[in-house]
Amino acid sequence: MSEMPEESLNESIDQRLEKITTKALTAIEQANDLDALEACRVAYLGSKGAFTQIMQLLRTVPKEDKPRIGALVNEQKKKIEDRLEESKAVLYEAHLSAKLSSESIDVTAPGRRVPLGHEHPLSQIRQEIISIFYSMGFSTVDGPEIETDYYNFDSLNTPANHPARDEQDTFYTNLGPHVLLRSQTSTVQVRVMEKTKPPIRVIAPGRVYRNEEVNARKYPLFHQVEGLLIDKDVTFGQLKGTLQAFIKALFKKDLNIRFRPDFFPFTEPSAELDSQCPFCQGKGCRTCGNRGWLELLGCGMVDPNVLKEAGIDPEIYSGFAFGMGLERLAMLKYDINDIRHFYTNDLRFLEQF
Ligand code: DAH
Repeated sequence: MSEMPEESLNESIDQRLEKITTKALTAIEQANDLDALEACRVAYLGSKGAFTQIMQLLRTVPKEDKPRIGALVNEQKKKIEDRLEESKAVLYEAHLSAKLSSESIDVTAPGRRVPLGHEHPLSQIRQEIISIFYSMGFSTVDGPEIETDYYNFDSLNTPANHPARDEQDTFYTNLGPHVLLRSQTSTVQVRVMEKTKPPIRVIAPGRVYRNEEVNARKYPLFHQVEGLLIDKDVTFGQLKGTLQAFIKALFKKDLNIRFRPDFFPFTEPSAELDSQCPFCQGKGCRTCGNRGWLELLGCGMVDPNVLKEAGIDPEIYSGFAFGMGLERLAMLKYDINDIRHFYTNDLRFLEQF
């Protein structure tokens, strides 16, 4: 090498610079994404890059040629750098628009429905019953589920030897000899009468408990709605009119009703209310067992003993009461054949309502 004329050595550096630059520019041209472009930059201008290595040869160039070769190196290097910049701008633009279009949203697409929960069928029918009685001027009252046998039985004219008081029917607690889970919402009748002066017009929806074997019709926990109206000169005719209006509103049909004599300790006279079957309108079908009628609720005129016990003078006031089972009504209204469906929380069942 030392024998090589300076000219040819210099020429060779010139040529090599040109050649490497051309190669670099071609490679840049062919890089079709940002990663490939960065690979090019490293391959030529990186610390071990091809162009950088040629620059090392500058040390071997005679002093007088250094300015010219140096300028050439800078010029070529700038060419490569400029092209890298240009390409980078173009490729970045392409990369951005590809990214944008892959992430674009279709503003005309229909919205996705978020699955919403909804009210349990028992809550629905309870609300419906409450609204119907609201429209007739009744308000809602509440009472405790853990009760004494006084409110559940004694105050309701139910004597000590009454079969309902048996442990086989009623859940007693270990909170004391007289403490039980109420077996009927009738408990609220006396609680309201003790606190309120007539006229009284209330309904009391709530849970009740009975010591029952579970089957398709019976469950140890269920719901009732109690009704109580106390005023001067209340008649059985008013009870009939109230319940007739209620049945029509609940089933949204013009159904006849009838009363059958029955017995409850806290009403006198007592009756069981039947309604024409809402499915066959009295003709007879599977739901009503071909009878055309359905037993819906118990009712009657409040027994004077109950009024007296609650501190209301039966010589001045009279009243009527009624009590209905929510599960039973919901089963009839929605044609449900097993009470256990209300309590198993199977979405396939619940979503139908
Ligand atoms: N408490 C009764 C029961 O659970 C239902 C009932 C009947 C309530 C007649 C009343 C009524 O208020 O007057 O079977």
